[in-house]
Amino acid sequence: MSKTVLVSGGAGYIGSHVSVELINSGYNVVVADNMSNCDMTCFEGVKKITGKDDIPFYQIDCCDYESVVKLFDEQKIDAVIHFAAYKAVGESVAQPIMYYRNNLVSFLNILEAAKNHGGCNVLFSSSATVYGEAQDLPVTEQTPRLPATSPYGNTKQMCEDILRDVVKATAGSEGVVKGIALRYFNPIGAHPSALIGELPRGVPNNLVPFITQTAVGKRECLSIFGNDYPTEDGTCLRDYIDIVDLAKAHVAAVARMLDDRMKEGYEIFNVGTGRPVSVYELVTVFEKVNGLKLNYKFAPRRPGDVVAIWADTRLANEELGWQAERPLEETLASAWAWEKHLAEK
Ligand code: UD1
Repeated sequence: MSKTVLVSGGAGYIGSHVSVELINSGYNVVVADNMSNCDMTCFEGVKKITGKDDIPFYQIDCCDYESVVKLFDEQKIDAVIHFAAYKAVGESVAQPIMYYRNNLVSFLNILEAAKNHGGCNVLFSSSATVYGEAQDLPVTEQTPRLPATSPYGNTKQMCEDILRDVVKATAGSEGVVKGIALRYFNPIGAHPSALIGELPRGVPNNLVPFITQTAVGKRECLSIFGNDYPTEDGTCLRDYIDIVDLAKAHVAAVARMLDDRMKEGYEIFNVGTGRPVSVYELVTVFEKVNGLKLNYKFAPRRPGDVVAIWADTRLANEELGWQAERPLEETLASAWAWEKHLAEK
C-alpha cells in the first residue's frame, strides 16, 4: 500500500515541486493550502506533469484547528511536509504579530492533530537563515544557530525547537511524532516542464525572480546589492540549490522516516550544493546560458544581508543518500523558461 503524505502549502513554489517528486516516487499526496500567496497555476501544473488529476486538495487555513482535524479524520496521513508559512523577511519585521501567529499556530495545529491521530512523521521546512552570519564556512548542522535578525527567521528557529520538543515528549506514547528539519539554502529554478515555478506576488525580494522579471521586461533594472563585500568580486556568496534537487531531498527524508531509518527521533539536514556562487557570477551565468544581456547596476548593500553562507552537505549526502545534481546552467535556463511560459499565458 502506498503511503500518504500531506503537503501543507502544497500549491506553492516548493510544495508543488515536492508534490511532483513524491507522486513520481509512488506516494499518495494530499495537498492543503489556503491560497494566501499563490493561485491554482502550480497545483494544476502538478496534475499535468504527473498525469494524476485526482489529488485530494483541501483549501484550508492550517491556523484553523478544526479544519486540520477534519483533514486528518478523512485521510490516513503517514507523513506531513509542512510548508504553509509566510516567508518575506521585510514584511515580518513590519508585521511580527501576523508572522508569529501564522507560522507558529499553523505548525502547532499540524503537530497536535498528528499526535492525536496516532502519531506521524513530520518534515519541517526550515532555512539556512537560522545560522545568521556564521563565521566558519561552510556551515554544518552543528554550527551554532545565531539569534534571529527577523521575526521570520525567529519563527524558523522556534518551529525547529517546537518539533524537537514534541518529538521528545511523544516518544514511547501512543502518538509518537518523529521529525526532520531540512534547512534550505537558496532554492531557485523551475521544473524542466516549465509548468510549475516560482510565482512571486508584487516586486520579488529574491534574486532569481528579480533577474527573470528584468530579463522579460517586467522590471527595468536589477540592483545588485553591494559590490564592496570582502569576496573575490565584491558581491555576496550564496548556495543556490535547484528546486527539483531540493524536492528530491524531501522524498529521501520522507522515505527515511517511513522506513524507520532515522538514527534519532529528531534530525536536521542542510540542503544545498556545497558550492558558493556570487551574485555577480549568477548574473553572468544567467546571461550566458540564456544568450541575453541583463540590465543591472550595482547598488548599496541591503540591510540584513550576510556576506557569505554555503552548506556543508556531507550529512545529507551520507544519511539521506541524496546530493544536488542539476548544474547551475540548467537551473538558470529552467528559471528563464518558466518566466517565458508565464509571459505567454
Ligand atoms: C532570503 C532571506 C532568507 C530566506 C530566503 C528565502 C534575507 C536577508 N534573507 O535569503 O531569510 O530564507 O530569502 O528564499 O532577506 N540580491 C540582489 N538584488 C536583488 C535581490 C537579491 O543583489 O534584487 C542579492 C542579495 O543581496 C543576496 C542574494 O542576492 O546577496 C540572494 O538574495 P535573496 O534571493 O533575497 O536570498 P537571501 O537574502 O540569501
